[in-house]
Amino acid sequence: MKLIRARDYGEMSRRAANLIFAQVTLKPDSVLGLATGSTPIGIYDCLADWFAGGDLDFGEVTTINLDEYCGLAPTHPQSYRYFMQTHLFGRVNINPARTNVPLGMAEPEAESTRYDALIAGCGGIDMQLLGIGHNGHIGFNEPGSSFERGTHCVELSQSTLEANARFFKEGEEMPRAAITMGMGAIMQAGKILLVASGKEKAGILDKALNGPVTPEIPASLLQLHPNLIIVTGDM
Ligand code: F6R
Repeated sequence: MKLIRARDYGEMSRRAANLIFAQVTLKPDSVLGLATGSTPIGIYDCLADWFAGGDLDFGEVTTINLDEYCGLAPTHPQSYRYFMQTHLFGRVNINPARTNVPLGMAEPEAESTRYDALIAGCGGIDMQLLGIGHNGHIGFNEPGSSFERGTHCVELSQSTLEANARFFKEGEEMPRAAITMGMGAIMQAGKILLVASGKEKAGILDKALNGPVTPEIPASLLQLHPNLIIVTGDM
């Protein structure tokens, strides 16, 4: 486990983006596992800027996103497909056919099977970018009684619903379920890059990295990954 403590959000974003830069430079056909949420936005800004400056090429990259809300179409502004299009895919030369986000409108069980086959068909993930939820969730693997291995549909926990309500307009119905990659595919990634910013994440990050490995804190399983890099900012 390698822990990089950046001073603030901007430095965290640059440091983490540098690691993705190195991954894509050394292996141009990398399979990147990507996350949404507020934490990676600065990373995607850096990558888009470096692409615009001619330093980075996404032409051969494949991406596999962690999760999507059930019931949201790709065109919905709060869908994770829309998020990725806005923050990264639409700003770099990635081949749209090589970008993958679970389909929120599909039947969840069939979509889970399709997504696991897709990950396997890509030969697995070279580098997986992760944020961490306030309750220790990873993707939308919520605290529970076991670690679910494969892609699956989850009911979102109260803590997650509250944390993510900020992205939805007042009065707008927020999805209560999501489809997420399981801990199995995440743990099989060659490298894991976990980013966390802000003092309010310090407690859960400490529990995840230094406490017991337990499904009650899904991120704690990352302790067992042989190539885990954590970049924090403002902690
Ligand atoms: C999003 C995802 C989530 C977020 C987590 C932290 O694709 O997988 O696990 O990483 O909820 O979200 P932020 O960064 O908004 O605090």
